[in-house]
Amino acid sequence: MPAAASHQQSFDPVQILHDRFAAAIAAAFPEHAGGAADPVITPSKNPKFGDFQANGAMPLGKLIGRSPREAAAAIVKSVDLGDIAEPLSDASIAGPGFINITLKNTALARLLDRLDSTALGLDPVHGAEKQTIVVDLCGVNLAKQMHVGHLRAVIIGDAVARVFERMGHKVIRQNHVGDWGLNIAMVTAKLIELEKRGEKIDKLDLDRLEKLYKAAQKECSADERGLAMVEKYNLGPKALAEIGTQVHEAREHLAGAKNTLVKLQAHDPATVAVWKRIADLTMDACLATCKRLGADVTAEHSAGESSYAEELAPLVADLVARGITQESEGALVIRVEGFAEPCIIRKSDGGFLYATTDLAGIRRRVQRFGADRVVYCVDARQGLHFRLVFAAAHRAGFDVAPGHASPSSLEHAAFGMVLGQDGKPYKTRSGENVKLSDLLDEAVERAAAAVAGKNPDLSAEERTRIADAVGIAAIKYVDLSNDRIKDYVFDFDRMLAFEGNTGPYLLYALVRIRSIFRKAGSGMSALRADAPAAITIATPEEKTLALTLLRYPGVVRGVAASLEPHRLCQYLFDLAGAFSSFFTNCPVLQAHDEATKRSRLRLCAITERVLADGLSMLGIPTLDRM
Ligand code: ARG
Repeated sequence: MPAAASHQQSFDPVQILHDRFAAAIAAAFPEHAGGAADPVITPSKNPKFGDFQANGAMPLGKLIGRSPREAAAAIVKSVDLGDIAEPLSDASIAGPGFINITLKNTALARLLDRLDSTALGLDPVHGAEKQTIVVDLCGVNLAKQMHVGHLRAVIIGDAVARVFERMGHKVIRQNHVGDWGLNIAMVTAKLIELEKRGEKIDKLDLDRLEKLYKAAQKECSADERGLAMVEKYNLGPKALAEIGTQVHEAREHLAGAKNTLVKLQAHDPATVAVWKRIADLTMDACLATCKRLGADVTAEHSAGESSYAEELAPLVADLVARGITQESEGALVIRVEGFAEPCIIRKSDGGFLYATTDLAGIRRRVQRFGADRVVYCVDARQGLHFRLVFAAAHRAGFDVAPGHASPSSLEHAAFGMVLGQDGKPYKTRSGENVKLSDLLDEAVERAAAAVAGKNPDLSAEERTRIADAVGIAAIKYVDLSNDRIKDYVFDFDRMLAFEGNTGPYLLYALVRIRSIFRKAGSGMSALRADAPAAITIATPEEKTLALTLLRYPGVVRGVAASLEPHRLCQYLFDLAGAFSSFFTNCPVLQAHDEATKRSRLRLCAITERVLADGLSMLGIPTLDRM
C-alpha cells in the first residue's frame, strides 16, 4: 500500500490503519523501522474477526527472530488507534499473530461527513505541490483519417489531463501532429501536380486526400531491390526495362518531394498554401472527432512537428558543439547508457527525424513551459523510441527547467492495441483500418436500439440525445477501463451492455440514484448544506458503501501517480456495486424512521457526487434519465 502523502489528510480507514500500525511497529522496534515493517492490513474473511486484520507480525517476527505472537503483542501495546477503531488488547491477537480490528461506525460516519464537501476529499493542490504538467495526446498525422488506433491516444490522454486538472495542477495539452517531413512533402507535391493538371484541390475531402497520400507514398518508393536483382542475375532487357522504368519514375517523384520539402522549409508561399490546405482539412476532421468524443483537444493544443522545424538545425548544432553527439555511418547519433541502440538525430542525407523533433519538444516543454512532468499518451510500440529520446534529452540537459536543481519527469503512458475478435489489430472486413467516425456512428446506432428497448416513452429527441451519450460513453469507458498497457478486444455487444463493468451500467447507476432524489421531494432537506442530516452507519451494506466512498481521494491520487485511468473505472464499478447492495438491502425512502431515511438519503447523495465526479474525470458526461 502506498503511503499517503503526509500533507493530504487521509479519509480511507484502511490507509489510516496502515499509517497507525506502521508508526506502532516503528515505535516498538525502532531498529527495524525501515521499509521492511509493512503492517499488511487486509479485510477480514470472517466478520467475527472484525473488519480488518493487521498481518504484519508474521514477517516481522521472522525478521527480528521472535515469535509472531510476541511481535503482535508489542504492536498491540504501542498502537494508537485513536477513535478510528475499537481499542486492542491481547484478546485481539488470533492464531499465530493476526491482529483483529473492528472499526468504529461513528468514525466512518465522521470521515464521510468530512468527505462530503465540494472537493470530495481532493482539495486543490497548492504551493510546492502544484505542478505544471504537459500531456501529449492525440498525435494524428496529416492527410490521414483518424482510425481506431487514435482512440486511445485521445481518450486516455484526455482522462489523464482531466485527473491532473481536477487535482488543481496546471495542465498543458499538446497535440504533436505529424505534419512535417518527407511523407508530408510527398502528398503536398502530389497535390501541386494535380493542381497543375487543372484539378480543383479546394473540393478535396479527407477520404480522397488519404488516397492521394497513399498513392504518393507508392509513387515515391522505388523497387531498388528488384532492380539490383535484375542486374545481378542479368534477367534480360525486358525485365530491366520494366523495373528500370519504375525505379526511374519513383526516383524522380522522390526528388520532386525532396524539392517540395526544401520549398516548404524555405516558406515558399505557393507550396505552403497547398500544405496548409492539407493541414486544415485533416485538423478540421480531427478536432470534430475529438469534440464528438467529448475530449478537450482543440486547435490551441496543436503543436505539430512543423512548429519545431526552425529549431532543429540550431538544436543539433548546439549538441554537436557540446560534444554530446557522435558520427555513426554518416548519421549523427546520441549514445545513451544502458542502450545498445543509439538515438539517431540526423540522417546521413542531412534530414532530421521523429526523435529530433521530440528532443526539441522536451526542451520546449520543460524549459519554456516549465513542465515538472511531461506525460506521453502514445502507443506502447513506441516504447523504445521514448526511452531513447528521454535518455538523450537527459544527456543534453533538456529535461531540467530553468532554476530547477533536478530534472523533470518524462513519462510514457504507453497503451496497448485495440484488437478484433480474431485477436489481430481491429480492421474492417476488407482489411482496412477502421475509421474512428464510423466506429462512433455504429456505437451510437447500437445504443439507440438498446435505449429504445429500455424506455419507449421518451421523445425522439430525447432518445437521440441519450443514445449519443450512451454510445460515446460505451466506447470511451471500454477504452479506459482496460488495463492501459494491455491490448483489448473490441466488442460492441459487451461494451454496450447495461450489466457489468461498462459505461452504460455506470450511467444507469447514476440515473437510478438521481431518480431517488426526484421521488424524495421534501426529504431533500436531508441534504441541505447548512444543516445536513446526521450520518449513521449501522448495516453491513452501509459500512461497505462508506468504506468504498472513503477510498475515493486515494484512488484518484493513485491514478495521477500511475497514469492508469482503469483504476478509477474499477473503483467506480465497485462503488456502483456497493451502492446497489446498499439500495437493495437498506430501504431509503421507506426507511422505518425519519433519521435513518435522512442518513441514507445523504449516503445516496455522496455516492451520486462521487460517481459524477469520477465520470467527469473520465470525460464521460452523465444523464438524468435514460
Ligand atoms: N504522430 C505520431 C504517430 O502517429 C504520434 C505522436 C506522439 N507524440 C510524440 N510527441 N511523439 O506515431
